[in-house]
Amino acid sequence: MPDGLSCQERNLVLIGFMGAGKTTVGEQVAGMLGFDFADTDRELEKVHHMSVPQIFARKGETWFRRQERDLIVRLCAGEQRKVLSLGGGAYLQEEVRRVCLKHGLVVFLDVSWEYWKEERYPRIRDNRPVLQNKTMEEIKRLFFERRRQYAMNHASIAITNRKDAEQAAGRIAAFLRRAREAEKANT
Ligand code: S3P
Repeated sequence: MPDGLSCQERNLVLIGFMGAGKTTVGEQVAGMLGFDFADTDRELEKVHHMSVPQIFARKGETWFRRQERDLIVRLCAGEQRKVLSLGGGAYLQEEVRRVCLKHGLVVFLDVSWEYWKEERYPRIRDNRPVLQNKTMEEIKRLFFERRRQYAMNHASIAITNRKDAEQAAGRIAAFLRRAREAEKANT
């Protein structure tokens, strides 16, 4: 378990590639734990009254990334007992990783490339600006490049099929309960 804050004090932070299921799983885990839930894309859409693709088109990606980083720093450092689902690119920013690893329990939804390509990509291909105008080869490279950052986590959940996806929330809630029990036993 990480040093510093206790598991009780940490927010649960879900990271992973676009369309990995962070929002769905995050809502489910929050329900199981009785935590509040926040999804960074939804929060930004609410605050700026635009969809994420509109923000990319009107303000540009650099502006989006700054808003995303500031929001995560505020949410993650400031509040407890929250499940936070991050947009897939947020965790590439060093400051986001630093604050999440310090104040949160970071769980990586580790979706396999094959499952993502077959099951997830068709559902999200039209509304993710980062996927537009890219060949499948380029998307695959991005998928594996990002794994290097996602590998900086406290726990990862492998998802290679629908059953794994359905069980992810239960496994994360169980992981958190175990971590808390281990912590109690050691104090
Ligand atoms: C992005 C992922 C998206 C959203 C934006 C950029 C990315 O969120 O933040 O389109 O760079 O990976 P999801 O991970 O929820 O798809």
